[in-house]
Amino acid sequence: MSGRAHTLSNEQATLDFAARVAHAAVGGAVIYLRGDLGAGKTTFARGFLHTLGVTSHVKSPTFTVVEPYEFSAGSAAHFDLYRITDPEELNLIGIREYFSPGAWVLVEWPERGENVLPTPDLDLEFKHFGEQRNVTAIARSERGRHVLRKIEWDSE
Ligand SMILES: Nc1ncnc2c1ncn2[C@@H]1O[C@H](COP(=O)(O)OP(=O)(O)O)[C@@H](O)[C@H]1O
Ligand SMILES: [Mg+2]
Repeated sequence: MSGRAHTLSNEQATLDFAARVAHAAVGGAVIYLRGDLGAGKTTFARGFLHTLGVTSHVKSPTFTVVEPYEFSAGSAAHFDLYRITDPEELNLIGIREYFSPGAWVLVEWPERGENVLPTPDLDLEFKHFGEQRNVTAIARSERGRHVLRKIEWDSE
């Protein structure tokens, strides 16, 4: 993925980045979270959802595929498609329902849902960088460009 890589020096830096994105993503957003196992995708989701107002524990949806959240500002869904082998499985679980306007949707392993998932607003890619991580962001909609402008990152 192109775009400038930003260093995330430790777990807290990933949580802080997620909080900035959440503050900027007013009115809902679809965000893809790419990267290998351990790259920090679930950490980002935790920081993002807690910033939106989720007070419960954010657990990895590795086994459940999706964890839905309801909170005072609206609703969110956190997907992990690692175990999906056929994107058609996503239609069976009624994936469309989670993408209502105004909702926040985070998707780990979006490449497993190709042709079924809607285009995201933001496409984030996390990479191991020694003990640290880095992240690259690409906006794929006007809403996504708005988020990157608000956090003062370059939009492609
Ligand atoms: N920026 C970072 N630097 C170093 N470690 C990090 C960073 N962000 C997250 N981690 C750590 O990486 C580990 C795996 O993170 P996780 O979010 O579960 O990855 P993924 O969901 O991509 O598999 C966790 O122990 C987390 O604390
Ligand atoms: Mg994960």
